[in-house]
Amino acid sequence: MQIQAQQLVLGYGRKEVVKQVDFHVNKGEFISIIGPSGVGKSTLLMGLNGTTAILGGQISVLGENLATISNAALKQLRARIGFIFQSYNLVARMSVLDNIASGMLQRKALLPALIKLYRREEYEEIFEYMKVVGIEHEALSRCDRLSGGQRQRVAIARAVAQKPEVILADEPISSLDPISARRVMDTLKSANQRYGITVVSNLHQLDYAREYCTRVIGMHAGRIIFDGAPADLHRETIDEIYRGAQVQPDGPTRQKSFLPAAAMAQA
Ligand SMILES: Nc1ncnc2c1ncn2[C@@H]1O[C@H](COP(=O)(O)OP(=O)(O)OP(=O)(O)O)[C@@H](O)[C@H]1O
Ligand SMILES: [Mg+2]
Repeated sequence: MQIQAQQLVLGYGRKEVVKQVDFHVNKGEFISIIGPSGVGKSTLLMGLNGTTAILGGQISVLGENLATISNAALKQLRARIGFIFQSYNLVARMSVLDNIASGMLQRKALLPALIKLYRREEYEEIFEYMKVVGIEHEALSRCDRLSGGQRQRVAIARAVAQKPEVILADEPISSLDPISARRVMDTLKSANQRYGITVVSNLHQLDYAREYCTRVIGMHAGRIIFDGAPADLHRETIDEIYRGAQVQPDGPTRQKSFLPAAAMAQA
């Protein structure tokens, strides 16, 4: 078991956001966390990286107890976790190649990486990651010249270059068009299958969660109210997860009541 949370409470100051959740993650799983905006998905994901404060309960990640971990050990632990931010967090002025190489920086000597002196086998390794995400033809382009989907794929390649045991991805496809989104999800899937990296990803798109993930965790009001196979995620559960939300994901059952009368007449 790579991640184990028991009665875990996470939050900010005294505000409890994630409330007494219990779950575990096994090696090789591909999990999506779904739920309405503000429910605590990012808070939970960042909690797995030791970024949000633990207000109660237990959480262990890759054998480390996050409640008692030292700063030095947390730094080492983070090198074993690839975190993909919605905002990419790439170095805009650096090339695709150098950004991906910076993922390897965490496990290689600092100086050669800083002066961009990569050995032949390191170049080959970087190119392999670029090919996995399909960005090799942009190797020398600056990252600020790339599209959103391309940047997200560089971010994934950089995370994979880190050779992490777990990738945490916070809404990796929320700002992408469907084709780029699919490409990014395919990329995460291949990191999962090819390198055996466990993936936990926040997603707003239920159809992608269903298609790509081996397991879905559904949150409502800071609690986990569904944890199971995508096939067991039925309409009633989805309604329960998104109860009270402004926007529901795919094909909301109550959609018609959101439409003005004129639109309903046309529908
Ligand atoms: N740094 C912070 N300080 C205080 N409160 C915060 C902070 N970050 C988030 N929150 C609060 O925690 C709650 C959950 O936020 P979180 O970002 O985890 O939600 P989310 O499920 O990821 O939403 P979204 O789908 O919009 O990304 C919100 O009420 C938010 O206002
Ligand atoms: Mg979020």
